[in-house]
Amino acid sequence: MADPLHSAPQSTFTPRVFSGIQPSGGLTLGNYLGAIKRFVDMQDQGIETIYCMVDLHAITVWQDPAALRHQTRELAAGYLAAGLDPKRSILFNQSQVSAHAELGWVFNCVARMGWMNRMTQWKDKTSGKDAEKASLGLFAYPSLMAADILLYHATHVPVGEDQKQHVELTRDIAAKFNHDYKVDFFPITEPVIEGAATRVMSLRDGTRKMSKSDPSDNSRINLTDDADKIASKIRKAKTDPEPLPETMDALADRPEARNLVNIYAALAGTDKDAVLAEFAGQGFGAFKPRLADLAVATLAPISVEMGRLMQDPAEIDRILGDGADRADAIATPILDRTLEITGMIRSRRR
Ligand code: TRP
Repeated sequence: MADPLHSAPQSTFTPRVFSGIQPSGGLTLGNYLGAIKRFVDMQDQGIETIYCMVDLHAITVWQDPAALRHQTRELAAGYLAAGLDPKRSILFNQSQVSAHAELGWVFNCVARMGWMNRMTQWKDKTSGKDAEKASLGLFAYPSLMAADILLYHATHVPVGEDQKQHVELTRDIAAKFNHDYKVDFFPITEPVIEGAATRVMSLRDGTRKMSKSDPSDNSRINLTDDADKIASKIRKAKTDPEPLPETMDALADRPEARNLVNIYAALAGTDKDAVLAEFAGQGFGAFKPRLADLAVATLAPISVEMGRLMQDPAEIDRILGDGADRADAIATPILDRTLEITGMIRSRRR
């Protein structure tokens, strides 16, 4: 497959990566391999990268204010500790760039009720009687997400499979805006979907995604876990008594075993077949200590660095303020032009 970041279907738009991350707390190994590490790696691919912590999206469901502030800083600390360079990438929180909310409003007037009603995430979250109690913001969530992306004319959006429909809606909004106003202003953004290689499953049940909301803390590795905790959780991870096979196909019916091989490959930056080539014929008594060593070597330094960064929240806030200034410099002209296209007078001198 061609490198998705360097295939340019929209030749008039400069390639630019944008993604949003919810500061909803509790970073796990799943977030690290599925988003953080992926996003940090993209910064080294010679393309502009903008990462937004979407606090305006977070409040579509109730958030305790102190907890939200803490989680936003902790998420930023996680990215920085994992190697995000705030000089090369833009890292900021959404609410500091007011253009997001403003373009979100315009898109509320472009998107149709029918489109929003078809969003599977909305339907899942509001099945049955819950719909009446959901916030209006939760319904409009995907329209604000489209604004996040299109405010930067982003061409590529790395997301998990669960967000693909929202990126498709973003494309529909861009196309309808361009069509209705007879312009070629917004790009038709490409989703860059997370591969199965980075999907991390629960350590207790290999058929469920690793999640911060699982009641069992042993089901996940938190990015804040120290070396002992990481090693102990891997020792306790559910497995089976069989040795590791030669091929991934032979792991089809062994979800826990498959998950651990997958985690090993992702942490080591190799492919799963290479891991099996090394461990075929050995049981988990031999594999788990090696995986624990690898996980501790990779994750413990991140946890230590996150702890260090969290000692100095003012420095985190300074980095986010600087990121927001740089994001705003890109977003404001695009918002201005959008409002102009829609027929609004823009005569203020700022
Ligand atoms: N909805 C995304 C999620 O829950 C977060 C998000 C908000 C996002 N705005 C975005 C992702 C823009 C990509 C681009 O994961």
